[in-house]
Amino acid sequence: MTKVLITGGCGFIGRHVAEEMLAHGHQVRLYDALIDQVHGGGQPQIPDGAELVRGDVQDPDRLRRALEGCDGVIHLAAEVGVGQSMYEIARYTGANDLGTAVLLEAMLAHPVKRMVVASSMSVYGEGYYARPDGSLLETVRRKPSEVRAGNWDPLAPDGAALTPHPTNEHKRPDLASIYALTKYAQERAVMIFGEAYEVEAVALRLFNVFGAGQALSNPYTGVLANFASRLASGERPTIFEDGQQRRDFVHVRDVARAFRLAYETPAAAGELFNIGSGNAYTVTQVATLLADAMGLPDLTPEITGKYRAGDIRNCFADISKARELLGFEPQEKLEDSLDEFVTWVRGEVVVDRGAEMRRQLEERRLVS
Ligand code: UD1
Repeated sequence: MTKVLITGGCGFIGRHVAEEMLAHGHQVRLYDALIDQVHGGGQPQIPDGAELVRGDVQDPDRLRRALEGCDGVIHLAAEVGVGQSMYEIARYTGANDLGTAVLLEAMLAHPVKRMVVASSMSVYGEGYYARPDGSLLETVRRKPSEVRAGNWDPLAPDGAALTPHPTNEHKRPDLASIYALTKYAQERAVMIFGEAYEVEAVALRLFNVFGAGQALSNPYTGVLANFASRLASGERPTIFEDGQQRRDFVHVRDVARAFRLAYETPAAAGELFNIGSGNAYTVTQVATLLADAMGLPDLTPEITGKYRAGDIRNCFADISKARELLGFEPQEKLEDSLDEFVTWVRGEVVVDRGAEMRRQLEERRLVS
């Protein structure tokens, strides 16, 4: 049994990781600033048996106190909105990068054996694409002028059409948003620290995480929560681009298990892993599946044909490495988990801030 400090432990993923760790005999201390955008000013739900230390990840004194007696750290505390990161640049860089730096310095006084950091698929930028002859293209970028003209799909440099392909950890990072930049810096800082101080560091590049407990009223939390809050308010989901962009949706309980495996598996030390479901869904498919599960098939998605700055077109995971080294096997498919998700949504007070998010982005010409 070990005692693990989970930063961001009251967040959507943090709570599930805490439950998973407790269920497997670890002691758990949560560290969380309980910011209003995520928690809505309400009381946090803390799993039975976990301790809570309230504090900001940029507060060295609170962190040092929180680290006392801990053998390991799972670092989840972060600001998570791609769109918002494009104008609240200092806040994102402060929480994600300076926050990680302050945590690592605090760990100098309280060394731990293992540290697992939540990185993100956003570090890849576009995922892999295959050319017509089957060869893979590693770095694909959409030109803003092309995208604004509605040519959504990236092309090969010679103009050939490309097919999206599962992305593995060998793909070179290509950072397309401030959020991605901060996540990459976080990941690298932890790995560099791990090597220098013999802390067993592990980074998990999370794909699009969904499940009960997502901050529904936070418009920057992820597309499924955005759609759920639109539908729950009787509004049609709004879709950027043409809705054919593809993502990999992974259930939060699968993600929580991945964190435990990363924390416990000796062979994971020094490694980074994709954590996804291995399945790709278009955004339109997700909107339709959810509207059906909510019994609102008439609320068909509104395809805006607009582009959100920083968005990539396609990225979904090759999870072979996590399968092999961690024994990670996703157990919950999106289409089979939506009933549970909808039951949870129905019990929530939902404030749809989708229109507000679009206005904030449009005012700054980040949606056009
Ligand atoms: C991003 C990050 C990911 C992060 C996640 C949650 C990238 C590549 N990935 O994922 O690491 O964990 O945010 O912060 O940066 N969409 C709509 N309508 C909406 C909302 C979104 O059509 O109301 C579209 C977006 O334009 C995008 C897709 O849905 O094409 C997914 O968006 P989102 O859930 O915000 O996450 P990602 O950008 O994939």
